[in-house]
Amino acid sequence: MLRNIALTALILACFEVALAAILFEGPEQLPRDQHYDFIVAGGGTGGGVVAARLAENSQFRVLVIEAGPSRNGRVSTSAAYSIHPFNDLLMETSNELSDEFPLKLDMNDGSPIGIAWNQFTIDHNAERSSSATAYLANTGENVHILVNTYVTRVLPAGENGTDFRMVEFSANSASPRKRLTARKEVIVSGGVIGTPQILLNSGIGNQEELQALGISVLVRNPSVGKNFTDQVSALMLMNTTIRDTDFDRDAALTEWNETRTGPLVLPNHLNHIVYVRLPEDAPPFSKGGFQDPTAGKHSPHIEYVFSQISTHPPATVVDVPPTPSDVTTIQFLAVNLHPVSRGSVSLNSSDPFAHPVIDLGLLSEDLDIAILREAVRSARRMYSAPAFEGFVSQSILPAANVTSDEDLDAYLRTVASPFLHGVGSAAMSPPNASWGVVDPDFRVKGTSGLRVVDASIFPTVPSGHTQVPVYGIAELASALIAGEWT
Ligand SMILES: Cc1cc2nc3c(=O)[nH]c(=O)nc-3n(C[C@H](O)[C@H](O)[C@H](O)COP(=O)(O)OP(=O)(O)OC[C@H]3O[C@@H](n4cnc5c(N)ncnc54)[C@H](O)[C@@H]3O)c2cc1C
Ligand SMILES: *[C@@H]1O[C@H](CO)[C@@H](O)[C@H](O)[C@H]1NC(C)=O
Ligand SMILES: *[C@@H]1O[C@H](CO)[C@@H](O)[C@H](O)[C@H]1NC(C)=O
Ligand SMILES: *[C@@H]1O[C@H](CO)[C@@H](O)[C@H](O)[C@H]1NC(C)=O
Ligand SMILES: *[C@@H]1O[C@H](CO)[C@@H](O)[C@H](O)[C@H]1NC(C)=O
Ligand SMILES: *[C@@H]1O[C@H](CO)[C@@H](O)[C@H](O)[C@H]1NC(C)=O
Ligand SMILES: *[C@@H]1O[C@H](CO)[C@@H](O)[C@H](O)[C@H]1NC(C)=O
Ligand SMILES: *[C@@H]1O[C@H](CO)[C@@H](O)[C@H](O)[C@H]1NC(C)=O
Repeated sequence: MLRNIALTALILACFEVALAAILFEGPEQLPRDQHYDFIVAGGGTGGGVVAARLAENSQFRVLVIEAGPSRNGRVSTSAAYSIHPFNDLLMETSNELSDEFPLKLDMNDGSPIGIAWNQFTIDHNAERSSSATAYLANTGENVHILVNTYVTRVLPAGENGTDFRMVEFSANSASPRKRLTARKEVIVSGGVIGTPQILLNSGIGNQEELQALGISVLVRNPSVGKNFTDQVSALMLMNTTIRDTDFDRDAALTEWNETRTGPLVLPNHLNHIVYVRLPEDAPPFSKGGFQDPTAGKHSPHIEYVFSQISTHPPATVVDVPPTPSDVTTIQFLAVNLHPVSRGSVSLNSSDPFAHPVIDLGLLSEDLDIAILREAVRSARRMYSAPAFEGFVSQSILPAANVTSDEDLDAYLRTVASPFLHGVGSAAMSPPNASWGVVDPDFRVKGTSGLRVVDASIFPTVPSGHTQVPVYGIAELASALIAGEWT
């Protein structure tokens, strides 16, 4: 996974597309006496959409403040693939074991269960498509983008103690803090970690926890940063005789740079995603007495995503048990897509530049490991399809003799990792609920002039990847906000 991330970063770093919007590299470059109708804190997936959609009204002036540098390319999708015998084996498996692993032509058709060809936000020019390239890059001069700048707080503007239309920002902890007041609204889109961090620094959060850090409490809300949820993944390796997917990285980079072809076009070197729904009589439900955590019969419990076939160990964020170096393995992640465990994002200090404390709470609920256990068993059933005979034989991680609940759990607790699809740290809830951070209009409860639009507002994680749902809610929020001001 980490190797893939590094490569993606490298690909992104090669490209910068000119913006029609005006880019400022630091707070000191920002024009004086400039008024903004909307200030968007964070220019990631959600923030990019909101800024661009609000700016469609040429009367609105929008400022985006983004901690990172701006890298741009266009948002489009593709179903790029590489030719490999594993493709054919999976297609055969979808025939042979069609009950559990049916062929899925389009995993985004609303009913994703089955073996599907992966889809990517990568454009026809083999470049990453993001809200920066697809949305912000198409805006005009009424959008100002201030990069390399942290929003440290939001503050009440004027007399109204809860009218949070002011932002405070700074390039780093040593440089002076600046302030700007939005004429209409501030939208916080700092993501699942950045958003609760900004709110907590602003004195919006749990009273006792903020007071303990010496932060004045302006809005009591014990839910800020709580209920943080990520999907939980476990690495699996099966030994195989199929050819590996290794390639020469320097040659691949040259090829991609010259012709936009080759292995670097894809984030993974294998092409499929498998979504599995456990039957109603699966052990967590029939024996464990757990309720189905998902939204219903079209929602998968489990995903397999295949990364590579190699003798090289996979890059992981956790220490995995050593494996023999001469064994070629199919390397993939088994994922519990809908965990019920909850973690938190909290502050360790009143310094807005200090790292927050992130507790993922992975596998803290028994249901989550019970489902992950069945994910391992289901994957092994998939590889037991006649199609794989002679090609894939043995489970290397977890080892083939790891089969009992107890042994599987011990393995899973060693390798469990977040799938990087976090949500929930500023959850949306009904207006009169006793919990939750934003109301159904994305407004931070107990405030005016302040909304949150990003992945942190999802109260539970979707049974899939999160990027597309964030585009969806950001479009909804943009229409709602624009509608209120026109
Ligand atoms: C490594 C990785 C790989 C992923 N791969 C996939 C994938 O393949 N498919 C998929 O569907 N999803 C994927 N996701 C998840 C997806 O990227 C997120 O769900 C989505 O981007 C969330 O959007 P967001 O707007 O909530 O936050 P983000 O897109 O993270 O945007 C938040 C922005 O706010 C900025 N920010 C934070 N704090 C501040 C501050 N104080 N001041 C100023 N700016 C700030 C950040 O720099 C960032 O740009 C991946 C996530 C990660 C981390
Ligand atoms: C977490 O979410 C649940 C609803 O899913 C809610 O009942 C609970 O109060 C929330 N906890 C906090 C601290 O917000
Ligand atoms: C998998 O490993 C086992 C044990 O090392 C070995 O007997 C078997 O031949 C291997 N199978 C493949 C397909 O590599
Ligand atoms: C990519 O190609 C350009 C010329 O088109 C060249 O200047 C650059 O060095 C190449 N980069 C890499 C990493 O090969
Ligand atoms: C919190 O801050 C203290 C003091 O700077 C530091 O020692 C500690 O490691 C931090 N804790 C976390 C979880 O980051
Ligand atoms: C699996 O086999 C290995 C090697 O023989 C052994 O060390 C290990 O204890 C076994 N594990 C289980 C759970 O049986
Ligand atoms: C919350 O508000 C809705 C709509 O106003 C109402 O129907 C519901 O009964 C309220 N719930 C509680 C717990 O007050
Ligand atoms: C002051 O805040 C309240 C909500 O806390 C809001 O209803 C009201 O409209 C605000 N007044 C102004 C002038 O913004």
